[in-house]
Amino acid sequence: MLLHGTLSLPFRSPLRLPSPTTHLRRLPSTAAHHNFAISDKELESRGFLLRRTPEHLNLDHLNSIFVAVGFPKRDSDKIRVALDHTDALLWVEYETTKRPVAFARATGDGVFNAIIWDVVVDPNFQGIGLGKAVIERVVEELLEKGITNIALYSEPRVLGFYRPLGFVSDPDGIRGMVYSRKNKRS
Ligand SMILES: CC(C)(COP(=O)(O)OP(=O)(O)OC[C@H]1O[C@@H](n2cnc3c(N)ncnc32)[C@H](O)[C@@H]1OP(=O)(O)O)[C@@H](O)C(=O)NCCC(=O)NCCS
Repeated sequence: MLLHGTLSLPFRSPLRLPSPTTHLRRLPSTAAHHNFAISDKELESRGFLLRRTPEHLNLDHLNSIFVAVGFPKRDSDKIRVALDHTDALLWVEYETTKRPVAFARATGDGVFNAIIWDVVVDPNFQGIGLGKAVIERVVEELLEKGITNIALYSEPRVLGFYRPLGFVSDPDGIRGMVYSRKNKRS
């Protein structure tokens, strides 16, 4: 388990490394007042609209991204329940298609702790800064609420994505532990 500033646990997933698309240039890297690598305005100018509520989020489209990156397909009704119990959520809608292309959410106790889940970028849109844009904003939203203990589970091959965003493995020797009963019925 990685903590922001200090913990991430193994996450069954993906298996696709970021592959910059041929039809999309890397987004420009100019800091906004939040010190985000890419400002909201720059994202919008490229047709990437930031959405902070699940309203209008098509869960079938989201599921298709999960499947495309190697996450298991989930029951849409259960995803809806999970979203109802989510404290911070950000997804990016691609204006041209109206479809989600990036997503992340965090759950927690609302004051001390949060865990970030389901970080995904559509493979056709990976490698252009959307993953970083989403994580930066979810972390910022949690910090603004005073939540400073932010953890996530990381697939080993994406540790290098999270580290520059302030997440470290095993801070002070602390190891994440997980009780996880595998259940085929999602
Ligand atoms: C991991 C993932 C979210 C990254 O999103 P992305 O939009 O492709 O990444 P970005 O373009 O925002 O990359 C931001 C930075 O991280 C780096 N980076 C991206 N993926 C990386 C990886 N797997 N390992 C190391 N560095 C990585 C980029 O090179 C970039 O570096 P820079 O800022 O110095 O230019 C995306 O590849 C994805 O959805 N993967 C499949 C699902 C997954 O693994 N989710 C995480 C579960 S723990």
